[in-house]
Amino acid sequence: MKKTVICPGSFDPVTRGHLDIINRAARMFDCVIVGVLVNSAKNPSFSIEERIDFLREATKELDNVKVVSFDGLLAEYCRQNNVDAVVRGLRAVSDFEYEFQMALTNKKLNPQLETIFLSADADAMYLSSSMVREVASMGGDISNFVPECIHDKIVRGLRK
Ligand code: PNS
Repeated sequence: MKKTVICPGSFDPVTRGHLDIINRAARMFDCVIVGVLVNSAKNPSFSIEERIDFLREATKELDNVKVVSFDGLLAEYCRQNNVDAVVRGLRAVSDFEYEFQMALTNKKLNPQLETIFLSADADAMYLSSSMVREVASMGGDISNFVPECIHDKIVRGLRK
């Protein structure tokens, strides 16, 4: 049976670390949905449309990846769309508590839904969207941190 997974996140903006996880998920599963979602604890710099646009551009060569956005609960979307598992990247021990809490909450809401953690690539362990935003907004070089094809758009958006 075909396996569908979702890589959910705020992606504000997508980093090379996110893209590494999406690429690896695309090699492991039949269909990968990248979900650009609302994290109620965060106040994003980029609109949902801009974040979708960055992700579509960065994943355009991956045939089994589609980028979507939806309101509401991730667990509910997965139930309604027959998504087998959530895939999240883990960078450091400090990520673990938050990720574990989300995984267990989603499992309680949708007992069929598994969460799979992929360890971040060694080169992406330190990367975060918030660091990218801070460095770019202060005029620093983010070319090592974000996919090349959307670098200029991200820089323009953050220096506005
Ligand atoms: O990149 P982030 O901000 O760490 O991703 C968190 C995200 C967006 C995956 C999480 O906040 C989420 O799933 N939001 C959708 C609403 C939802 O289902 N909330 C309950 C999560 S346990």
